Amino acid sequence: MQTKTFLGVCGSLRKASRNMGLLRCAQTVMPEGSSLIIADISEFPFYSADREQPECVKAFIRQVKQADGLVLAVPEYNYSVAPALKNALDWVSREPGSLLAGKPAAIMGAGGGMGTSRAQYHLRQICVYLDLRVLNKPEVFSNAFSAAFFNNGDVADTEEGKKLQTEIKELMAALCRQAGQQLR
Ligand SMILES: Cc1cc2nc3c(=O)[nH]c(=O)nc-3n(C[C@H](O)[C@H](O)[C@H](O)COP(=O)(O)O)c2cc1C
Repeated sequence: MQTKTFLGVCGSLRKASRNMGLLRCAQTVMPEGSSLIIADISEFPFYSADREQPECVKAFIRQVKQADGLVLAVPEYNYSVAPALKNALDWVSREPGSLLAGKPAAIMGAGGGMGTSRAQYHLRQICVYLDLRVLNKPEVFSNAFSAAFFNNGDVADTEEGKKLQTEIKELMAALCRQAGQQLR
């Protein structure tokens, strides 16, 4: 079986992030033969053309190159994409060679009542320019303030949490299928 490795990127930098919890949950439900590693973007400075790439950004770019696809966990800040995630994508987008073009990607998010749907649709627009191949379905819109999450950000083993786990599992399966089709 061909193994596939995906890279998770979370737009929230706080310790008890629900969005990071979504990525940790995804790690536990990856289809056999695939895995998900989670990038550390917490030290990235804001992109500037005048700034040399720091080592943390270089390491991230290496991870992006090696990944068969991306899993983007997007918090919604003021109806849009949290800036840490946009900034990480901005850094990669300036690397020669269109690293993201054609890469499969999955999007999910945890936020207020609309489950980051507004931010996710902004992110999808960003992904058009980057030429990422974002899965349309399933969409994962979760409520960060519900019983689906423990206080530390992990997806809970409650009824809501289990439903969310199933949605994430389906999304990861769809991502693997997409990556498999592209690798053939
Ligand atoms: C600056 C800021 C703006 C926010 N704006 C929104 C918003 O527009 N929509 C929403 O659903 N939640 C909003 N929230 C609440 C976040 O969705 C919530 O804090 C969520 O838990 C953040 O994700 P995290 O747990 O991964 O950090 C906002 C939070 C912050 C800090």
